[in-house]
Parts: sequence; structure tokens; C-alpha cells
Amino acid sequence: MLKDKWYLICPAKELKAGKIRKLRILDEDIVVFRDAEGRPSAIEDRCCHRNVPLSLGEMKRGCVVCPYHGWTFDGGGQCVHIPSLAAEDKIPRSARVRRYVVREQHKLLWVFVGEEEKVGQCEPPPIPEMDIWPFVAREHIFEADLEAAAESLLDPYHIAFTHSQSIGTLLGSIEELPQNPDFHIDVVKDGLIGHYMRENTSSFFEKQYFGTDPQIQINYRFYYPNLSRLEITFHDRVLLILEHIMQVDETHVSMTQITLWKNIFKPFPWFAKFFMRRKSDKIVGEDIALLQAQRKIMEQMKNKEGRVREVSVRGDAISLAFRKYWRAKLKGDAFVGDEAFEGSEEAEDVELEEDGRALGATASIDV
Ligand code: FES
Ligand SMILES: [Fe+2]
Repeated sequence: MLKDKWYLICPAKELKAGKIRKLRILDEDIVVFRDAEGRPSAIEDRCCHRNVPLSLGEMKRGCVVCPYHGWTFDGGGQCVHIPSLAAEDKIPRSARVRRYVVREQHKLLWVFVGEEEKVGQCEPPPIPEMDIWPFVAREHIFEADLEAAAESLLDPYHIAFTHSQSIGTLLGSIEELPQNPDFHIDVVKDGLIGHYMRENTSSFFEKQYFGTDPQIQINYRFYYPNLSRLEITFHDRVLLILEHIMQVDETHVSMTQITLWKNIFKPFPWFAKFFMRRKSDKIVGEDIALLQAQRKIMEQMKNKEGRVREVSVRGDAISLAFRKYWRAKLKGDAFVGDEAFEGSEEAEDVELEEDGRALGATASIDV
């Protein structure tokens, strides 16, 4: 499990004063709330008195009140009130729970899960578009394999099938499918970056808004360890899909999809929100159905190393490049330069098993 990283809580506007939000990240239970000054705060979801979840309590003047005996905790995790405390006694020093560092950046709230001293070692991914474009966001929690869920957004060929009823109609096919997929992938300091072209086969209705350019450029980006970004440019209009994934516990994965747009349905902002929310929920629903079913089979078929045999073709180049990068990073959890990346054991681990030449010989991957 990946500690010492930033994880998305939710868009800042969703954390309302006086409300408790419960989170589970990497098997840690956390409560998030706004303190007396309105600052977003996160503390352990456990009362240090008799170990009752604080998330069952309620908020009072920016503090969480435990439902069992009313011990009250501030945003720093310090117990500030004990109703049963004798007048001559002081609140014990140890009456505190763990606090987490929270950061608000580009309208999103992030929590650092790990050792607090390491908080400066990495940053939440920058998404400046959040400050200027409209967006919708929703978190989904379901049973899935984390790696499979992480690579799904970047996988170009699943769109026409998995998402034939949602995003597929918008994006059309990949150019010259399947003879000449021109994928570009580069390893950069904090993840992967790449692009490819798709043919615009959107419907007549969709073309009114997304434009009639014959081709659409898809830019993708992965910020290690948990954010994928797919930017779809229709001339002066942009659709930006972000997917944040994280391990909730051993079996569950959280996927938050944030959809942003620029110059789409501009005169009708409410309709745009309605349209994008429906699209986003449909897209994620389509992925979840398959990811859940896939996990069941993967669990049954795992070998001693925890891997499942797969067959790949060069159209899987982006997914395979993602896995190579992801596994190498997980192994060292440090930046892996091109050289080390190419030669790593993990890189070999995802070589094509049925036809080892297929990927290396034909796909244009610059990793
Ligand atoms: S268990 Fe929380 S106040 Fe007693
Ligand atoms: Fe998908």
C-alpha cells in the first residue's frame, strides 16, 4: 500500500461547515471536517477514550464530539473538552488522536497519508483548470484490482466497446484502427505523458457542440501514484476527464471521476452540468461493471507471484507502458529514469508472452 502520498478527499465546496465526512484510505479511517475557522481538517476516526468511531459523533463549534461520553476533539486531533472531568483535573496530555495534513489546491482537498515529516517530499498533482472551468465530480467505491482500475482511463481501445453508449459516441474510433495506432508515451519526472489521434465520428447532435474537425487529439497524463488525466480537444472546446484512484482496503478501490469542460454548451451552464454528470456517471458505471467482474476472475487465476496470465497485442501499448512504469515505481517508489526503467525486472515482467516481438517491434513507445 502506498503511504507517504497525497490522496484526494473531495472538491473543497463539498466539505460543508458543521458536517463530518468519513474516509477510508489504505485501511486508515479518517474523519474530515471544517474547524472553527473554517479550515479543512482531518483526524483519526477513533476516540482515544474508549475507541468509538468519531464519525458517529457530531460537530460543535468546529470540533468533533464523540457520541459515547462527549469528549471533544479539535482539527489538530487534540481533546479540548471532557464533560466528566473533575473540576480540579486537567485534560490528560495523551488525550489526543492522530491528525493528518490537509491541503486545498485548485478547489480540491488533499490529505497526506503517511509519516507527517515526509509531507514535503511530494505535492498533489497540479490541475489549474479546476480554478477556471466548470466541473462535476463523484467518488465511486467498488471491488477491483487497483492497477487494472488505474490503467483503464488511459486504455484507448476500450472506449469504443466499454463506452459505446457514452463517451464512444463522442470520440469515435482511433485513427486507422487498428493498423497504425500512433501512440506517444514519455516518462516524465512525476508520471507519464502522451497523445494520439482519434477520428471524430460523433453524432450530428454532438457535432453541434464538439465541432466538426475530422480528427480529435487525445492528450493523456498520469501523475504517479493516483491521478490520470485525459484531455480531449475539439478545436476550441475541451473536455477534460480526471480519474483519481486509491486503495480503500484490501478489496476496495475508490475512483473519483472529475469532468471539466471549456466552451461546451456555454450558453446553457445548467444543461452542461446535467449533461456532463450523466455522461460521467454512465462512463464510470460502464468501467465499474467490468472492473468488478475482472477482479473476480483475477482472484481465481492468480499464480504464486500474484499475477494472472494475459495475452497482449500492440494496441495495448499504452496499457503495457503504464504497467511497466507503475510496477517499477511501486517497487522502488522513487523516480525511475529511462535507462533503469528499460532494464528493470519489472519491465520484463510485462513483456508479451505469446509473441514477444509484437510490442517492441512495432509500437512507437518512447519510454
Ligand atoms: S469513547 Fe469517546 S468519549 Fe468515551
Ligand atoms: Fe473506461
